[in-house]
Amino acid sequence: MIGAAAVAFLKDTLKGEAVIHKATRVKDLKGLYRDEEARAALDPDTVLYDVDAHLPVAEGTEGGLFFGITRIHPGKIGAEYIFTKGHFHAKSDRGEYYWGIEGEGMLLLMGRDRACRAEVMKPGSLHYIPAHTAHRVANTGSTVLSFGAAWPSDAGHDYEEIFKNGFSGRLVEEAGKPQLIPENQ
Ligand code: F6R
Ligand code: ZN
Repeated sequence: MIGAAAVAFLKDTLKGEAVIHKATRVKDLKGLYRDEEARAALDPDTVLYDVDAHLPVAEGTEGGLFFGITRIHPGKIGAEYIFTKGHFHAKSDRGEYYWGIEGEGMLLLMGRDRACRAEVMKPGSLHYIPAHTAHRVANTGSTVLSFGAAWPSDAGHDYEEIFKNGFSGRLVEEAGKPQLIPENQ
C-alpha cells in the first residue's frame, strides 16, 4: 500500500497526525533570568517560544524517537537574550540532535561538572548534544530563531535541576554583541 505521509514538515512547522503544540510564556520562566524584576514586569501570558512536536509513540517508550521544531521570539529580558528553559534529560544518558533552520542563536551546553560552552546556531548548523548534558538555546538575532530537534522517546525532561541551580553561563548583550558570562560554576 502506498499512502501519503501522515505529517508535513514545512520549513519551521509540523502539521498532521500525532503532532502537539506547546507554548512557553513569561510566567513559565520564573526565576530563570538574571534580571527577575525585568521578567516579572512583563505580561505573564506573553509567549516567548513555542514547539511543534511529532510524538508517534507514548512518552517513555523505549526505542522510539521524537521530532520537534522550536521557534524562539527575538528580544531580551534585561540584558539577556530570550532563551528556552533548558534541561537535562530525565534519563540522563540520552543524547539529542539540534539543527538550525532560520535566524541566529547560540546553544548552551553544560555537563554535570557544570562546565559550560556555547555553539553558534544558524541555518544549516548541526549540533550533537551528548548524554548527561543540559541544553538551552538563546535567540541572539533580531528575527525568530527556529531549530529542529530529534531525541529518544524515553529521554524525558528534568527541568527541576535547572530551576534549582541554573546554567553556569549566561548569554547577555554587551556592546551590541552576545557574550557568554560565567555564573555559579
Ligand atoms: C527535547 C528538546 C527540545 C526542547 C525545546 C524547548 O528534548 O530538547 O525539543 O524541549 O526546544 O526547550 P525546553 O524543553 O528546554 O523548554
Ligand atoms: Zn532535550
